[in-house]
Amino acid sequence: MTIRLGVNVDHVATIRNARGGAHPDPFAAALVAVGAGADGITVHLREDRRHIKDTDLERIASSPEIRLNMEMAATDEMVGIALRLRPAACCLVPERRAEVTTEGGLDAAGQANALETPIRSLRQAGIRVSLFLDPDPVQLEAAARLGAEVVELHTGSYAEGRDGELERLRTGAATLRGLGLECHAGHGLTYANVSPVAAIPEVMELNIGHFLVGQSVMDGLPGVVKRMKAIMLAARG
Ligand code: PXP
Repeated sequence: MTIRLGVNVDHVATIRNARGGAHPDPFAAALVAVGAGADGITVHLREDRRHIKDTDLERIASSPEIRLNMEMAATDEMVGIALRLRPAACCLVPERRAEVTTEGGLDAAGQANALETPIRSLRQAGIRVSLFLDPDPVQLEAAARLGAEVVELHTGSYAEGRDGELERLRTGAATLRGLGLECHAGHGLTYANVSPVAAIPEVMELNIGHFLVGQSVMDGLPGVVKRMKAIMLAARG
């Protein structure tokens, strides 16, 4: 039984944007991640473009080496961009301008009317549609009614260590199997907490971002410090 890793490169863009230049480049990071075994690349084009920019998304979407999962709000603007760029998959997420990150799952049950048309348009274009949901049976059943093929379970509460959350994820994954939907999961996953989620047999894909980018700094820092020091010393002859 296999499980895929989708690497979210949004926070490579966060670091790049802190200086307004071109380094580090999320597209180059995406190619490195794929070269290292990532099964796909996930990016969230937010309405305020706080990290990933349209040009980043366009470059990633046009690379034949990259299987792109585009996270997005179900707005006309985002659906239009997805229909133009044709990512392999779209994960519909709730989006509030003031939030630091995607704080909760989509309200698929309450927002069914608003979600129906975006889901249908994306699916008609051959894009695999996923909904980012809390592991709540009411929401999972709504996803099935809406015609989503995939649900990504929000692992944020589990990652915060709340009691009973792992069991909710397990039950949610089993419910999705019963509904005939593919189960993905993500948010807040780290080396320390990923194993119990990766062990849930129905979970076919994990999407992980912030930890991977942060840990890359820690793992990469010794090498880049050594190289910078070597360049400086070489300049002194
Ligand atoms: N999956 C979805 C739907 C998300 O919105 C996010 C955050 O952008 C992630 C996965 C990745 O979360 P994290 O950056 O905490 O690993």
